[in-house]
Amino acid sequence: MAQRILILGAAGQIGTELTEFLHNQGNNVLATDIKDPNYVNFPTEYEIVDVLDRDKLQQVISKFKPEVVYHMAAILSATGEKIPLKAWEINMQGLINVLELAREYRFKLFWPSSIAIFGPTTPKDNTPQHTIVEPLTIYGISKYAGERLIDYYKHRYGLDIRSLRYPGLISWKALPGGGTTDYAVEIFYEAIKNHRYTCYLDPYRTLPMMYMDDAIRGTVQLMEAPRDSIKEASYNFSAISFSPQELADEIKKHIPDFEINYEPDERDQLAQQWPRSIDDSRAREDWNWKHEYDLPLLVTAMLENIARKLNKQLT
Ligand SMILES: NC(=O)c1ccc[n+]([C@@H]2O[C@H](COP(=O)([O-])OP(=O)(O)OC[C@H]3O[C@@H](n4cnc5c(N)ncnc54)[C@H](O)[C@@H]3O)[C@@H](O)[C@H]2O)c1
Repeated sequence: MAQRILILGAAGQIGTELTEFLHNQGNNVLATDIKDPNYVNFPTEYEIVDVLDRDKLQQVISKFKPEVVYHMAAILSATGEKIPLKAWEINMQGLINVLELAREYRFKLFWPSSIAIFGPTTPKDNTPQHTIVEPLTIYGISKYAGERLIDYYKHRYGLDIRSLRYPGLISWKALPGGGTTDYAVEIFYEAIKNHRYTCYLDPYRTLPMMYMDDAIRGTVQLMEAPRDSIKEASYNFSAISFSPQELADEIKKHIPDFEINYEPDERDQLAQQWPRSIDDSRAREDWNWKHEYDLPLLVTAMLENIARKLNKQLT
């Protein structure tokens, strides 16, 4: 059934594809972000909304009357370490503004968490849903505080709020926005354009990753699941895990002269604190989550789509 859906932070890596997907489903979607409308290209209506501007947010919500809100606006991990207090303000105050309006207007809310909530003391392999959570980055701290806050609003005010702990997301339509896993998108552009890439992570830095099509499908599936099937405040959500070396080896099957070298920087320190793989059995049991893209499928899809977008041959 078609719904009125508001997307905050719609011009980012995930929001761009989420907006298109929900629009193509026949919903009435309003995309919003702080980006200049001349630089965004949506099939839907677009409006500038800063999540820190509570009055504007309220105006838009009272006029559009969304049944569902996807709150995707945030400062991500690598950028967050450069501007920690600003990241805290946008990630926390932005969320509080949206939660307070959810109390008043009673919309259903999606808010994304991240594998960055896990820290160096968390078990790194098959990280359980409930485990030690001691993040060291401002981004991870804001995401974990956000998880507790949405759970509080859910129980205290009877709201319907759903959340996923996204792994690194890999997509070709919009560029990533300053996360630690951005290398896994950049590598494809460089492989196609220059046949070489310098990676800022260690060659063996294995991280949980997911192709964007799986992430969008899973997100919408979570939002459409019966309310009583949702048992966790924010679900572990996973598909595949690989290292830069394994990704490069898979790319070489398509571009045999592709070369990678490594110059690990501070982002490798962030990645070192995160899980290598995630146990998402709760999502699979509670609302039937199932990923489709393994590493070979993901690499083929990324190379074909980016080559077409850049109008380049693969070899
Ligand atoms: N991409 C990933 O791999 C990943 C992984 C884990 C979690 N997440 C989470 O998913 C959400 C979306 O991530 P993304 O990758 O699309 O990020 P992104 O950086 O690409 O997009 C975020 C968008 O938010 C907008 N924004 C920033 N400040 C704003 C403000 N004050 N008001 C309104 N909009 C503002 C930005 O302009 C940007 O378009 C975030 O909460 C992020 O933490 C992403």
